[in-house]
Amino acid sequence: MDILEVKDLSVKVEGKLILKGLNFSLKEGASHILFGPNGSGKTTLIGALMGLPEYEVTSGKILFQGTDITNASTDERAKLGMVVGFQNPPEITGVKLGDLLKLCLGKPVSDDFSPEELKQIEAFRLNSFLNRNVNLGFSGGERKRSEILQLIFLKPKLLLLDEPDSGVDVESLRMIASEIQRYVENSGSSALIITHKGDILDYIKAKYGCILLNGKFHCFTNPMRIYEDIKRLGYEECVSCRIRTDEGWRNNNGQRK
Ligand SMILES: Nc1ncnc2c1ncn2[C@@H]1O[C@H](COP(=O)(O)OP(=O)(O)OP(=O)(O)O)[C@@H](O)[C@H]1O
Ligand SMILES: [Mg+2]
Repeated sequence: MDILEVKDLSVKVEGKLILKGLNFSLKEGASHILFGPNGSGKTTLIGALMGLPEYEVTSGKILFQGTDITNASTDERAKLGMVVGFQNPPEITGVKLGDLLKLCLGKPVSDDFSPEELKQIEAFRLNSFLNRNVNLGFSGGERKRSEILQLIFLKPKLLLLDEPDSGVDVESLRMIASEIQRYVENSGSSALIITHKGDILDYIKAKYGCILLNGKFHCFTNPMRIYEDIKRLGYEECVSCRIRTDEGWRNNNGQRK
């Protein structure tokens, strides 16, 4: 069963065509790993899936649980259960992290956290951050931890995570990635995770991977295998490989090799 289906999606940013006719689907209850060099359009894809206004869909369709959301607003997509973990989580002056976390949990800011919620906040090592403005003066790794905890508290059906492992130390990576894995496993939700590294695959069970290069998808197969090949061969050489098989994601691009 697919949670998200994308058909022939092309996207422009500032008038420039970035994504060129993408076809893919995301499975329910599974994590999917997206690799791609800098500037290939990964962040653009997440922005377009979430309906952020700077990304102009020029052709194609996006279906969420069978419903066409191509023209739905970002709010509507969020209400359906889609969330984005940003590559660079923004600072929010005047909003305390503790209050935002309560809003994510759907409770009034005057309520206390439950013992279970406090345990999760502690697991993310954010207890001493609750009275601070969201992300203001947070280190890169602290921002990522705060972002992922907010998303998990929202209990989404689909997590779109833009490099959740960038700028985080080894221990934070283990913690963030294990919590994402635990959430996906327990909730039956799905995730699309962008990464440049393979370390996250030590903690996240993912069968499905692919590469975005020059606005097109290549190599739908096991993510660890893709990562090893990229490391060994580089992106251009990797996607020119002729023996790839499509073992996972549906790929209607006719790019099967
Ligand atoms: N607001 C914008 N104005 C102009 N060009 C943009 C804008 N946003 C993105 N682009 C361009 O679109 C292309 C894709 O950018 P995108 O951020 O999606 O890449 P990415 O794959 O996420 O890269 P990275 O790995 O560096 O995060 C880049 O060439 C980028 O310069
Ligand atoms: Mg990016």
